[in-house]
Amino acid sequence: MGMTNTPTAAPVSPAGAADPSRWLRAPRPRASAAARLVCFPHAGGTANAFTALSAALPEDVELLAVQYPGRQDRRGEPCAQDLSELASGVAEALAGHDDRPLFLLGHSMGALVAFETARLLEERGTVARLFVSAARPPAQDWQEPDLTLVGDEELTAGLRRLGGIPEPLLADPEVAGEILRLLRADHRALLRHRCAPDTRVAAPVTVLLASADPKNSLEQMADWARHTAGGHEIAALSGGHFALLERPGESAPPLTRRIREDLARPPASGTSGASGASGASGASAAQDAEPLADLVRELMLEGLAGRTPRLSTDLTALEAAAGEVMAPEAFAYVSGTAGSGATGRTNRTAFDRRRLVPRMLRGTRRTDTSVTLFGQRLPVPVLLAPLAAQQVAHPEGESATARAAAATGVPMVLSTFASRTLEEVAGAAGDHPRWFQLYLPSDRAVGESLVRRAEASGYGAIVVTVDATHLGFRPAELDSGYSPFLRGTGIANFTGDPAFRAGLPADADAKTTVLRWAQISTDPTLTWEDLAWLRGLTRLPLLVKGVLHPDDARLALEHGADGVVVSTHGGRQLDGGVSSLDALPAVRAAVGPDVPVLMDSGVRTGSDVVKALALGADAVLYGRPYVYGLGLDGQRGVEHVLRCLLTDLGLALALTGCASLADVGPHLLANGDRR
Ligand code: FNR
Ligand code: LAC
Repeated sequence: MGMTNTPTAAPVSPAGAADPSRWLRAPRPRASAAARLVCFPHAGGTANAFTALSAALPEDVELLAVQYPGRQDRRGEPCAQDLSELASGVAEALAGHDDRPLFLLGHSMGALVAFETARLLEERGTVARLFVSAARPPAQDWQEPDLTLVGDEELTAGLRRLGGIPEPLLADPEVAGEILRLLRADHRALLRHRCAPDTRVAAPVTVLLASADPKNSLEQMADWARHTAGGHEIAALSGGHFALLERPGESAPPLTRRIREDLARPPASGTSGASGASGASGASAAQDAEPLADLVRELMLEGLAGRTPRLSTDLTALEAAAGEVMAPEAFAYVSGTAGSGATGRTNRTAFDRRRLVPRMLRGTRRTDTSVTLFGQRLPVPVLLAPLAAQQVAHPEGESATARAAAATGVPMVLSTFASRTLEEVAGAAGDHPRWFQLYLPSDRAVGESLVRRAEASGYGAIVVTVDATHLGFRPAELDSGYSPFLRGTGIANFTGDPAFRAGLPADADAKTTVLRWAQISTDPTLTWEDLAWLRGLTRLPLLVKGVLHPDDARLALEHGADGVVVSTHGGRQLDGGVSSLDALPAVRAAVGPDVPVLMDSGVRTGSDVVKALALGADAVLYGRPYVYGLGLDGQRGVEHVLRCLLTDLGLALALTGCASLADVGPHLLANGDRR
């Protein structure tokens, strides 16, 4: 791979050894390209590594391949001692390349050089996106052996196993010797490289991971989220460690698609840049820009180019779409409701029957959608509801959701019954606000341990759920005989918990573990006194989720809660119950104007959020639709759902004539719909 002694493509501008352009090669110069993709080879690699990929890219993307010193036409120069030397060489060579959006792509060791280069470039401008392939996050231990201690034969055998270098090259002693020399030299720089865990670029990051890469796993990729303020996503390739380079026909299309999507987006929103670098998070920077028009403009531009969105923008249509692709029992679990489904239906009809009466000509260009709860400023009055066991929808589960939440600026409430640990999800969420939903276990030591871990992992509030001390009678789940938990999905917060493990024999097998979980994970004997106990345990804001009666809201406050969530649990608990929206005004009246009141169950569109706020909610929890997005397209699906909701909400507020959330009240509703 890239090791041949054939001549490389011409330098970008032919020049002497001192000219920085010796760093960059354009295998296919494309003068009218809309974007440049600068590609950094792996250890031992040369600019030639990207020749095939360059040919597979469309006319509007120009690939510039980096040539490191010490090889081929730069053989006269010493190899770099460390990766920052390479990064500064490339950054310098890229001066004057700021007339088009710049995308960086690094393969394996090249990903670290690309990351360092992005940091340097962001000191003077913007990087549109960083693609990293087959590479662990920069602050992680790559667990690489010291190749100076590995003999030639063993090293060559290792290269054969990894693939990527054509056999005839490895079989030629002279070429193979050169390959090993470069590999050892580059590898020394890689081993020497250090990066602090909080080092971030403003650019969004796309992690390319090949399904059969023996060096890298999905779990190891999560930490890339810590290294970007612009949001991070994982894209799967098929093949091994060298998939990006060996299968250009498969790797070029996702790169092209992402680049075109970024180009279609106005620079202020997705592609971070100056605002990200100045300390504002990428997500809130996106919110503070032009929240209304972004998505609409983007989709219309795509439409002009003949492309329509992968997922519908009709958020009420996602359930049916997810039903087509999700495993039937997983879909039954997520979509199911209790009994006859009456509570589930009334949650929706309560929204549908209420009508907004908009006001005109108020000059509302855009609405300030921010809200402050418990001293925490949220960019939008929406949080992701805690939904358990999200791995039933997608293998990345709550980690993908957390990244999507961070990328769109929507805080997430993580379920006790998550399929990823609260620590992992905190890592995926980075700096973005998150709350923890608590099911208080009958083993109080486990409850205390969960609270301590949530505090230690930066969760900003505890939401204790009181409406599911028994799980409801859910025909769809029962008919398929399916509970994710009994199959081990949704108990991740327990299996590694020291207090939970203390209740198990050291050699407990999976079945014993699940049975112990089933025994202690909830507590049907809970009373308000237990809430007072919890209050004494933590200084985090405490919300009680699942109240519908105004007296229960009062009791919650009397026993130490700081706020309440009016909820029917999405109609999954009591069949034939009152809808959340119908219960909301009386709860607001009971607790007074100053206590935070949230609501959920049945919220689907931007207008639904406005109606909930008009009837007294400070914010809503958004439920099933985002998990349908997760099932349909992973992190990207969740982002799609949230971007649709926020755009729709922004428009609904502008169309009702509200300049900020303070303008929302019962007066927006038709007579007779105000309670
Ligand atoms: C939930 N909900 C929930 N609530 C909670 O406090 N802890 C949990 O673990 C879960 N798990 C869960 C799983 C699934 C699949 C669903 C659908 C719901 C309830 C959730 O937080 C929220 O109250 C409802 O989802 C709101 O209803 P809609 O808007 O989703 O219909
Ligand atoms: C559910 C529980 C876990 O609704 O909250 O499935």
